[in-house]
Amino acid sequence: MVNAVVDKLDSLLEEASSKISQTADIKSLEDLQHEILGKKGKLTQVLRGLSELSEEERPHVGKKANEIKAAVQKLLDERLLSLKQSALSERLEKEWLDLTLPGEPVPTGRLHPLTRVLREVKSIFSGLGFEFVQGPEVESDYYNFEALNIPPDHPARDMWDSLYLGEKTLLRTHTSPVQIRVMEKRKPPLRVISGGKCFRRDAVDSTHCFQFHQVEGFMVDQGVSMAHLKGTLSAFAKAIFGPERKVKLVPSYFPFTEPSVEVYIDCFNCGKNSSEDQQPSSPNSSSVESGLVLSESCRICGGTKWLEILGAGMIHPFVLRVVNIPSEYTGFAFGLGIERIAMLKFRIDDIRLFYESDQKFLEQF
Ligand code: DAH
Repeated sequence: MVNAVVDKLDSLLEEASSKISQTADIKSLEDLQHEILGKKGKLTQVLRGLSELSEEERPHVGKKANEIKAAVQKLLDERLLSLKQSALSERLEKEWLDLTLPGEPVPTGRLHPLTRVLREVKSIFSGLGFEFVQGPEVESDYYNFEALNIPPDHPARDMWDSLYLGEKTLLRTHTSPVQIRVMEKRKPPLRVISGGKCFRRDAVDSTHCFQFHQVEGFMVDQGVSMAHLKGTLSAFAKAIFGPERKVKLVPSYFPFTEPSVEVYIDCFNCGKNSSEDQQPSSPNSSSVESGLVLSESCRICGGTKWLEILGAGMIHPFVLRVVNIPSEYTGFAFGLGIERIAMLKFRIDDIRLFYESDQKFLEQF
């Protein structure tokens, strides 16, 4: 009787050992554990036979049963560990990451071309000792016009046709009012630039928009002359368009400057071969033979060899009087369009591109 139970226990261990070693995953191992050691498992069934044994036989078989149980448990534990290990190495193999691979490029934003030019202009003038100040975009008629020698009904108002918010308030049409605001509060010597949005009632086309950006600059001190104006603006033109640039001042008219000038640079596209002011040559002229770039074919200057970049002049005595600057002081002032500079610098032929937020356009800068 005893031997029969012991045999059963031995063959149970043998069967368990072979089944355990064949399990392929943790789930089937758990099922197997249940099948052998569970409440209604095979071991329990074998132990039922114990009741038929005598008092002396029972401890011997009971000890054997415990040994078998411990042996099965040990086999189960070892198998579990090895299944876990192979599951882990399988996962490590599958989820392997090559950390030396270059990362996915993250799309980054960049500065808008107008912001870039505005910053560049600021930094050039800051290098020349000009301090940057900000002015309001909503202006009064007084600062935008009257204090700048543009009284009501002055024909020059047509040039700066505006967007009015009230009878005497408007969106500023230029940055020149900043001159008045600064000189009202501070006394010379002054070297100031300002910049930002301006607005005009202009129909939108390839060179006009109802909103654009200007930089205004002025210098007031004793003995300031046109020579200072030309020197400052030449330094600016060389810094932004290249050291070989020349500037030319052409008489013009602004109510707030006297004399007034338009400032030109020689065309950086075709003007590099000419030191003289040239009229557009006839389409038949033989500049190809002389090795020059055909000026009449120049897309930048249209053959004139000169590009207008800004308006400037000596600050009108009227303006200086309005802000109570003593008469021993003189000053120059200038105003430039950021869009115009950016269009020339980056060879852009349509101002609308700046405002369309087209990624393909903006990504080029
Ligand atoms: N305010 C002028 C405009 O918007 C530009 C300008 C011309 C500004 C001459 C000046 C200047 O300071 O002296 O067209």
